[in-house]
Amino acid sequence: MERRNIDEIAEIIKESEYVIALTGAGISTESGIPDFRSKDGIWSRFNIDEYGHINNLKSEPEKVWNMLKIMIEEMRKARPNKAHLALAEMERLGYLDAIITQNVDGLHQMAGSRNVIEFHGNFREAICLECGKIYSIDYALKQRVPRCDCGGLLKPNAVFFGEPIDAKILVSSFDIARKCDAMLVLGTSAMVYPAASIPEMAKGNGATVIEVNRDGKMLPYSDYAIRGMVGEVLPEIVAKLK
Ligand code: APR
Repeated sequence: MERRNIDEIAEIIKESEYVIALTGAGISTESGIPDFRSKDGIWSRFNIDEYGHINNLKSEPEKVWNMLKIMIEEMRKARPNKAHLALAEMERLGYLDAIITQNVDGLHQMAGSRNVIEFHGNFREAICLECGKIYSIDYALKQRVPRCDCGGLLKPNAVFFGEPIDAKILVSSFDIARKCDAMLVLGTSAMVYPAASIPEMAKGNGATVIEVNRDGKMLPYSDYAIRGMVGEVLPEIVAKLK
């Protein structure tokens, strides 16, 4: 990682009025949760066309719930890593105003981050596809094919492909994307919309976009692209903020 860049990024964060982060599955891989699109990611173990869409859950609920149970099991063992902790510290220091996460693992909150928007929902709860009743995920996990009192199929309270993002979450995320002057894009392939439009929107409104990814690929709109592990890069940035 280039020292000059880390120094410059810390300066930009210090000088900015409103800083937000968009995080993806890459922020949690160092906690032992696989991401989606890397070599060993979820979509290499489970075909996205068979498991990713809401219609897959509706047509083959037992098959898709079996996969979800594996994911939930892996998530439950995970604890926040240095990247989550660095972001929580950045917020405490007054340099990070909000996190928009695409993750459903709750690790930002466990690390102490307060202003977290769960763009794709969460895996703490289950929701009935018929009546909208919410249950704890534990209630769902006790059943082979989890069902509501009303008989409707339950799904984790998270967004599947083919489903809309909650309107309030969409509006508040787009609002802060437009108002931020620096945006951190961390451990995400930024391929899935509408989440991927958040940094595009920030950039379009003049924000500096800072990307950290272990693959070192550069999003076309990034002003800074740091190639490295978020668990190493973010603590370095935070150290410069103190
Ligand atoms: N440090 C930095 N980057 C990392 C690390 C790490 N420790 N681990 C993984 N990455 C990078 C990978 O190189 C990859 O570019 O994080 C990115 C993760 O991308 P995806 O697997 O596509 O995950 P994400 O962007 O969160 O996916 C978006 O897709 O399937 C859906 O709903 C799911 O919310 C998810 C959405």
